[in-house]
Amino acid sequence: MAELFDSNLYVDLARRGEAAALDFVFKPDSLFVDPDTLAGSPGFSSLDPTVLLATLARETSRIGLVTTASTTFNPPYVVARQLQSLHWASEGRAGWNIVTSLDGQGNFGVTEMPSARDRYVRAAEFTHVVRKLWESYPHRAIHEDRAGGVYADSAQVKAIDHQGEHFRVEGPSTVPTHPSGEIPLFQAGASPDGRDFAASVADAVFAASPDIEAGTELREDLRARAVAHGRDPDSLLVLPGLSMFLGNTSAQARELHRATYARLNAERRFASIESAVGLDLRAADPSSPVPVEGLADPDRPVRSRTHSDLFRRFILRERPTVAQLLERPEVVASAHWVVVGTPDDAVREIVDRVAHGLDGFIALPGGSWESIDLFFDQVIPRLVDLGLFRSEYAGRTLREHLAE
Ligand SMILES: Cc1cc2nc3c(=O)[nH]c(=O)nc-3n(C[C@H](O)[C@H](O)[C@H](O)COP(=O)(O)O)c2cc1C
Repeated sequence: MAELFDSNLYVDLARRGEAAALDFVFKPDSLFVDPDTLAGSPGFSSLDPTVLLATLARETSRIGLVTTASTTFNPPYVVARQLQSLHWASEGRAGWNIVTSLDGQGNFGVTEMPSARDRYVRAAEFTHVVRKLWESYPHRAIHEDRAGGVYADSAQVKAIDHQGEHFRVEGPSTVPTHPSGEIPLFQAGASPDGRDFAASVADAVFAASPDIEAGTELREDLRARAVAHGRDPDSLLVLPGLSMFLGNTSAQARELHRATYARLNAERRFASIESAVGLDLRAADPSSPVPVEGLADPDRPVRSRTHSDLFRRFILRERPTVAQLLERPEVVASAHWVVVGTPDDAVREIVDRVAHGLDGFIALPGGSWESIDLFFDQVIPRLVDLGLFRSEYAGRTLREHLAE
């Protein structure tokens, strides 16, 4: 387990990703850990993602490095500098996953978690400030004319003098912009407010889409919202998380999936359903239909609107039994698209989603090293053979990879 905190592990994975010409490696993050959850798994224990990705910058040369930084608990000046520093250290390969955080208030002197809406309002202002700071010190201002005694054209390095509801930031940044251009922005929350924020600024959305219908609905809605913000819808990539439990046979894959989620006992599954949609199914007959009349008010405050909306949507659409609901990705896999099977099964499912409109996916191969090996050694080469993925990089920066 200590491997999880050894940067060599991430260097190896990033190099494998680079050999496969993946667009990026991605590190989610939490600013809170519940000691109770550590009994069975590392949960959100993690190195700081930006520091970790900085250690990968010089060990790799092409793969993008997407870090996560919360807009709820950080000062924008610090985040702007850290990201631009990662962009320099990686020569244009940094990406920023903008999150508003689900918890962690106790670590920042905040008594109560602000509502999701307030967090998005703050995120929009935060992102605006960060972009202004990036522009405040353009690399073209630097002349380095030693003979003439000129370092930079100081007239081009300007204060931003931001005075907003949440932040007052003078600027300029201490870090000039990297010449490769602006750092790509990612976002994940998919409530109506989250979608609107993503559609206004993001280059890519990390999407929880447990089935094709949820994926199509989200992608179409985000594209329409991007147009409403005056953007080209193709400039916003919707990338579902794809959780893969791969085996050489279907039976091996099923066993891997079962063993991985064995720690997710019935009580934790019931608790997750209750927290998302207010249904206590502990005493229900597993073969009985989920009682839709007991669903809580969709507008009540919840930890993650994205996840509670996905739960509701599935229950109302499919009218599942209690047993069926207990096995759903919404309950066991953070609502991500899950493939349990052979590499051929994974390729078939990916091809199927491509037919319904798929800009790409965030691969989450898991459960065992073998599952990761099968992803790199079999799934990716088959996607390349089908003409669905590149075999080598054309560009050098993350923005170029995303545009390909
Ligand atoms: C797929 C997905 C991934 C997320 N990853 C993170 C993360 O790494 N760190 C974090 O603090 N929040 C993460 N979030 C939480 C969001 O930033 C946001 O706070 C939350 O989804 C509430 O917004 P909503 O009302 O739009 O659902 C994630 C959300 C989703 C849907």
